[in-house]
Amino acid sequence: MIALIAAYASNRVIGAGGKIPWHIKGEQPRFKDLTTGNVVILGRHSFAEIGKPLPGRETIVISTSQTYTGENCRTCRSLPEALALCREKDVYISGGAGLYEEAIGLVDKMYITEIDLVPEGDTYFPDFNKELFVRQVEKEVQGRIPYKYVTYVSIEKLIECLYSKDHNRAHQCLLTLERESARSDKVYHWFDRFSEMSKGQATYIRIRGLRLIAANARWDKDNKIDEIIDGCLKHIVDVKPIAARQFIAVLPEIARYKVELRSDIIRALQNADIGKYNQNMQPLVYKDILAALAQIERG
Ligand SMILES: NC(=O)c1ccc[n+]([C@@H]2O[C@H](COP(=O)([O-])OP(=O)(O)OC[C@H]3O[C@@H](n4cnc5c(N)ncnc54)[C@H](OP(=O)(O)O)[C@@H]3O)[C@@H](O)[C@H]2O)c1
Repeated sequence: MIALIAAYASNRVIGAGGKIPWHIKGEQPRFKDLTTGNVVILGRHSFAEIGKPLPGRETIVISTSQTYTGENCRTCRSLPEALALCREKDVYISGGAGLYEEAIGLVDKMYITEIDLVPEGDTYFPDFNKELFVRQVEKEVQGRIPYKYVTYVSIEKLIECLYSKDHNRAHQCLLTLERESARSDKVYHWFDRFSEMSKGQATYIRIRGLRLIAANARWDKDNKIDEIIDGCLKHIVDVKPIAARQFIAVLPEIARYKVELRSDIIRALQNADIGKYNQNMQPLVYKDILAALAQIERG
């Protein structure tokens, strides 16, 4: 996993005169907890501020200079070179500004401490596109200087994770995307990917695509679902009953937000030929269909 970890103020200041312009007692443990046992990547100035490698962590310092060598740590000439050394490891890119800028498009996650302060400074966290990330507030702390621990999870990386053979991990990514779809239209921008997934060979990919299509029905101002609904409705009797059952379960969500498709959905459920499934499966699918029809009826 590639992560970025930073603390920035309300004006995005991260540094002033080579130092961090605040000291908040109790704010640092998150950095230690996350990075210990993993790799920390720092720019030359940020490393100079710390002065030595952090205990319990592999430290890589980035400098373009051919002659620079950080004390007791590895040195790389660029971020890609450093990342290439850490393929199977969890990496935390820890500043400063130039490394953050380069890393934002590469990371799975950003662990940010949002500091409720407007300090003077000379080094800033980049103004990144928040639409590309799911924002999760982990903890809010009141006090002399209030702060929040926030995690930004890359939507692109969450979608890549849907293809993972690690089903638990892929399921967690799916749930995160579904939760975000319930509260914002950020995930809807990837709708065409979900449409492709729904046609996939692999059952689990198909299921994940169909579920995300349904989760985004409420945002479908471009009527993309209308264009693919006939293909989707075939999955009521998907070749794999597990896919059929999961799709039937989310159909009421499509019917709720896509009123113009409601009668097509009801008809497809009523006409579904479940005779293709074995004797054990038929009553289960039949029950799912009745439950979906009842839910659509309730609205
Ligand atoms: N609030 C926070 O979370 C946080 C975290 C870290 C740092 N800081 C603050 O930020 C300030 C330091 O940050 P900074 O941006 O000035 O410096 P920095 O990134 O730590 O160091 C800059 C130097 O690192 C090398 N470097 C950085 N990015 C590179 C890249 N993409 N490719 C190749 N080399 C790269 C270059 O070294 P060469 O010149 O040798 O080529 C560059 O001159 C300090 O005030 C520090 O306290 C705050």
